Amino acid sequence: MKVKKYQWYKIADSESELVFLPNNMLVTEAGGKKITIIKHNNSLMACTYACPHAGGILSEGHVDASGNVVCPIHRYKFSLQNGRNVSGEGYYLTTLPVEVREDGIFAGIEQKGFFNF
Ligand code: FES
Repeated sequence: MKVKKYQWYKIADSESELVFLPNNMLVTEAGGKKITIIKHNNSLMACTYACPHAGGILSEGHVDASGNVVCPIHRYKFSLQNGRNVSGEGYYLTTLPVEVREDGIFAGIEQKGFFNF
């Protein structure tokens, strides 16, 4: 199994610094890229800013009761656990790990070489 390598970026000193929209999402930056942070069932998760289908802004969508991000444009659904397009259109959302550490909250961006997501 391939081990993913992440570059970790601090996104806040603490969770109280994260100001979520009413849909429990927010947009921030990690490594110069916009990312979406999601609070779901008291856990912090993250994914790319834009939908892999046609670039919808995912923070303008919502998370359903099963923990899927629902894109606001065509309502395709993506699992926050593995990025799988659970509504069946064949796309894949890049999800990012989030770690709450003593010195802050960090999001990891996978290092794939020169081009990252
Ligand atoms: S742009 Fe997101 S589902 Fe089409």
